[in-house]
Amino acid sequence: MQDAGFERLLMQWNKEQNDRPMPWKGEKNPYKVWLSEIILQQTRVEQGWAYYERFVKKYPDIRLLAKAKDEEVFKLWEGLGYYTRCKNLLHTARFINKNYKGKFPSTYEKIVALKGVGPYTAAAIASFCFDLPYAVVDGNVFRILSRVFGIATPIDTTEGKKQFKELADKMLDKKSPGLYNQAIMDFGATVCKPMLPLCAGCMLNKICKAYQAATVNKLPVKEKV
Ligand code: ADE
Repeated sequence: MQDAGFERLLMQWNKEQNDRPMPWKGEKNPYKVWLSEIILQQTRVEQGWAYYERFVKKYPDIRLLAKAKDEEVFKLWEGLGYYTRCKNLLHTARFINKNYKGKFPSTYEKIVALKGVGPYTAAAIASFCFDLPYAVVDGNVFRILSRVFGIATPIDTTEGKKQFKELADKMLDKKSPGLYNQAIMDFGATVCKPMLPLCAGCMLNKICKAYQAATVNKLPVKEKV
């Protein structure tokens, strides 16, 4: 599959048109990035924003979070739901404090082994904080790649997941993986949206197979409805 300039155009869009503000954007401190990514696992950016800021203010580093009382942390989490995330957050803060002397691990393998951290969150932390070449892969990425490359393989099949994962890894900007990962997240949230994507003004429409074939609203394909 030709890359059709996808990575270059995405990075150009990011530089010239991406003005999505978020408090964790450009953050390199792995504790803060980890915290933001855990919050964003099941919470929208708009809602997670204030929680992130309150957490960082109350617990500016991992040692302070590790030493906090359970009730206090759960209180701060109140309203976000999915409390397993909060339990894992505390567990992992204490684990890192004890086993890594409070220093956040800096390899993908160690990061993905942390409780509450899956491949997506690990790729985000590894790329944002340590410039490691791991692509984030989620529904946003499936949607963008299926449209730009005109791929109709259902995304909820083993074959589809494998195909999109391989393509995502191939497209990743290996020189700036963190910038690329944040760019693809922002592009999916603000331009290549699930409903009413902003195709007419999209810098990628000249390479977008779905735009050219007028199949944008038919992609991505799901086997089960
Ligand atoms: N969703 C998950 N991680 C995110 C991030 N870093 N920025 C925006 N949305 C996200």
